[in-house]
Amino acid sequence: MARKILVTSALPYANGPIHLGHLVEYVQTDIWVRFQKLQGNECWYVCADDAHGTPIMLKARERGVSPETLIEQVGAEHRRDFASFGIEFDNYYTTHSEENRHYAELIYRRLRDGGWIDRKTITQAYDEQEGMFLPDRYIKGTCPRCGADDQYGDNCEACGASYSPDELRNPVSVISGKAPVQKASEHYFFRLQDFEPMLREWASSEGLQDEVSNKLQEWFDAGLRAWDISRDAPYFGFRIPDTDDKYFYVWLDAPIGYMASFQDLCNRRGLDFDEWWNADSDAELYHFIGKDIVYFHALFWPAMLHGAGFRTPTRVCAHGFLTVDGQKMSKSRGTFIMAETYRRHLDAEYLRYYFAAKLSAGVHDIDLSLEDFTQRVNADLVGKLVNIASRCAGFINKRSDGWLGPRLDAPELFRRMSARAEVIGGHYEDRAYSRVVREVMALADEANQYIDEKKPWVLAKDPDQAEAVQAINTTGLNLFRVLMLYLKPVLPGTAAAAERFLQVPPMEWADAGQPLLDHRIAPFKPLMTRIDPAAIEAMIEESRESLKPA
Ligand code: 2FM
Ligand code: ZN
Repeated sequence: MARKILVTSALPYANGPIHLGHLVEYVQTDIWVRFQKLQGNECWYVCADDAHGTPIMLKARERGVSPETLIEQVGAEHRRDFASFGIEFDNYYTTHSEENRHYAELIYRRLRDGGWIDRKTITQAYDEQEGMFLPDRYIKGTCPRCGADDQYGDNCEACGASYSPDELRNPVSVISGKAPVQKASEHYFFRLQDFEPMLREWASSEGLQDEVSNKLQEWFDAGLRAWDISRDAPYFGFRIPDTDDKYFYVWLDAPIGYMASFQDLCNRRGLDFDEWWNADSDAELYHFIGKDIVYFHALFWPAMLHGAGFRTPTRVCAHGFLTVDGQKMSKSRGTFIMAETYRRHLDAEYLRYYFAAKLSAGVHDIDLSLEDFTQRVNADLVGKLVNIASRCAGFINKRSDGWLGPRLDAPELFRRMSARAEVIGGHYEDRAYSRVVREVMALADEANQYIDEKKPWVLAKDPDQAEAVQAINTTGLNLFRVLMLYLKPVLPGTAAAAERFLQVPPMEWADAGQPLLDHRIAPFKPLMTRIDPAAIEAMIEESRESLKPA
């Protein structure tokens, strides 16, 4: 029975470009979705730009445009960048949409009517010149612990201390440079603490990563507290129903953006929204996220959904951060690399492969070592995988007029490789992509060894061996086809080129079992070229240049 699976990646903020750090998540999700689709499951992948909040409002002001204009421009760049990495969303929307307003208001009203919204007056830093309350990161001052200057309102980068902004010495507003005052206003709070039993039960459902379960346990132990879901004007977002000047905090309507994007997809494709979101839905719901936003997805989000009568997520899949050459991405080192910059110099398939080779179901960080990246792509993809096809194709193209023969020379070997479909599929399902890669490369080694041993180039000298040569190369190309299928979720572009070369319709997972015989293939064209280290240097140089402070 085909499963019904709705998958999301976190919604990127609409105030800056996509960089390689973002791409870990979208590549991870895209691979999983492509695998589910190859298996014949009904799987939909939705995402959107996260378009609300103070940083976006201020960025628009800085650029001298309206927030609407800013989010439209950035949204177009995001779509372009994702497409250039083969990230294939079924829908990419924006949280600044009528569908999102509808669901944000609906969920809020249901929570309010359920008695889970409190109102309370709190005091916060306020910039009198700008006429706005200041989020912590818009206040800077002297660290109360170590005395370092120019530190943010919530933590010190020099000594690592965390504190509240009113402890900061000589605080100033980052926006106006003036000292903030304390000002009271009424805020709306979601009573998260009322959902503890439900959350504990949700969290005990199998399938949460250990690290996530442990975090949740810590949060339960520390005690859940009500969550401030409102912000005062001026704010770019949705106004809270029945208020004049209160807005939903961006993190309230951001995850609701998953629903809104899916609703937009339903409108266009004739899908039934309720089948996927009703409390008794039998569809699966997967959220891929970074480890820094587990709190929002594993506490607030299931509680909001449950309180509002919707289904809760099947699973939240958290991943770690990206480091480059063992260190945090750095503008001065040129390792803060934008998606667009990377694509000007390198093929997306290389990075998809490298990330896959490093990704597992865990939440630890992954490192992009540029030397290892070059070496691995060149050795594995060009040297092993694509090599199988280029070694065999010439014989078939030239000596058999492009025809694969009627039989395999090594049916046993083919059967053994095609029998790995289940194990490899299991690794994809578990997000253990590094295992997929390891397995496929071991099989590629075997395929190359097989060709080495058979030496078709020697046999080809003997005209009586023509049929044997065809059978050997038919075997080689069939092994290549199965391995390419196994990596199709990771390398969609290369797989498509291989399908054109083999003249087959888009491969599906079930195709692994059947060899391609008595079939005409197209002339061989190189499917992938080696990474030139000069391209990497140029990319680093450009990253350094483009990010030089003005
Ligand atoms: O952390 C972020 O980049 C957020 N924009 C992610 C939002 S994910 C979802 F909840 F919308
Ligand atoms: Zn300090």
